[in-house]
Amino acid sequence: MKAARRPFLLGAGAFLAGAALPETGRSGPLARPLMPTGRTVEHWLVAAERMVRIPADAGPEVPAWTFGPEPLPMIRLQRGDSLRVRAENRLDQLISIHWHGIRVPNAMDGVPYLTQDPIRTGGSFDYTFTPPDTGTFFFHTHCNTIEQLGRGLAGVLIVEGDELVRHDADLVCVLRDWRIDGQGGFAEFTSNAAAAKAGTFGQVRTVNDRVEPVLEVPAGGEVRLRILNIDPTRIALLGLEGTPAAVIAIDGNGLPPVPLESWRLGPAMRIDLSVRAPGPGEEAVLYDYFSAEPVPLARLRGMGPRLDRGRFDPAPLIPSDFPAPDLEKAETFRLTFQSTAVASDLVLPDGQVLRYADSICLSSATLWAIDRKTWPEAGHQQLPPPLFELVKGRSYVIELVNLSQYQHPIHLHGVTFQVLDPRQGESGQRADTVLLGPRDRVRIAFVADNPGDWMLHCHIIEHQETGMMGWFRIA
Ligand code: C2O
Ligand code: CU
Repeated sequence: MKAARRPFLLGAGAFLAGAALPETGRSGPLARPLMPTGRTVEHWLVAAERMVRIPADAGPEVPAWTFGPEPLPMIRLQRGDSLRVRAENRLDQLISIHWHGIRVPNAMDGVPYLTQDPIRTGGSFDYTFTPPDTGTFFFHTHCNTIEQLGRGLAGVLIVEGDELVRHDADLVCVLRDWRIDGQGGFAEFTSNAAAAKAGTFGQVRTVNDRVEPVLEVPAGGEVRLRILNIDPTRIALLGLEGTPAAVIAIDGNGLPPVPLESWRLGPAMRIDLSVRAPGPGEEAVLYDYFSAEPVPLARLRGMGPRLDRGRFDPAPLIPSDFPAPDLEKAETFRLTFQSTAVASDLVLPDGQVLRYADSICLSSATLWAIDRKTWPEAGHQQLPPPLFELVKGRSYVIELVNLSQYQHPIHLHGVTFQVLDPRQGESGQRADTVLLGPRDRVRIAFVADNPGDWMLHCHIIEHQETGMMGWFRIA
């Protein structure tokens, strides 16, 4: 099948205006408070080097770093379940696990030195929390992330319980590229030249670690497709051809369904689609349009007798309940994102001088900055001052301004924010990561209800680890 519906790419800073806003005639379901189920789901993740075939079905074995024999562990729980994960480190470097997008208590956030001591070789750490929100999340290490994520250390976490109308199937599509050299090893994960630009791209593009896999779906049914971009670098422009689809969640957060035309999905971002499965033996194709020729990523093939689901009209998900920020009273902070030609030393109030260079959990150069400050040498161990300090319970607007010509998916730990400037046709979206276009500006708002010290960084990992990272405090 050829891509017939190629979207029109706009210039710098512009985003594709998505389809029309959903009608508001149908009032959506209401959020429900968190009710503990009394159940605890337990997992044991052992970070180690394992020989893994990449792509999964066909490729050569490479020394990947994974959490288990399955290169992509999948954790599913029901809302209200507690999760207990024992993370064990059998690598010869430090690790920690961050639960991306989950509003965990600060001590469970998995940021070395900021929220916990890193897990040393041979050591372990128990993460226990009850995820407050439903949705599609993932987890990854937060130490030397360029290499650790590049070699595979990540997994999927799904919290169920947001469907009023059950889908006929629920599938996960994890997008990641592998930086392998074709001779049983990994290629370069980074270079200063690439890190100063869009980053280092992988050569083998996979969905669920396979090249253009066929995903079998019940013909004619309503399928939930959870798409996660966990690549450290690549921004995809997704489209599905051959069948109608709608975006029903962004970063795990339900929203009034938005008909899918094309959708920009940066590193760490997720969308859930409701898709009408193709008829028996027919296929629909998931494309990335963001390249000279559209790249087919995966195929959905209709299997079995055709289900009759009537007109395609996906039901909204039950939203998670977040406190609504009070925009009238909110204080505003502005953060700028830019490159640094030369980083200068940072003098702390007590006279200590932080030098910008390499450290244990980071790469060695400083190329990027937030508010002209880059993350310093000894980074996590010797913290720079916070970007801002927020008062617990108050509402805040953060204006994110991109002064560079590169895109940056900006992620905040600890909170889920509302995006005040719609990006792709949706409105009032909640998210944990927002993609800033070149010279773009976007305002986000949230109630500072989760106390602790939280990271704020670009999720193009080479940008993050060369300085585009900071932290803020809620107290
Ligand atoms: Cu997935 Cu600090 O991030
Ligand atoms: Cu960036």
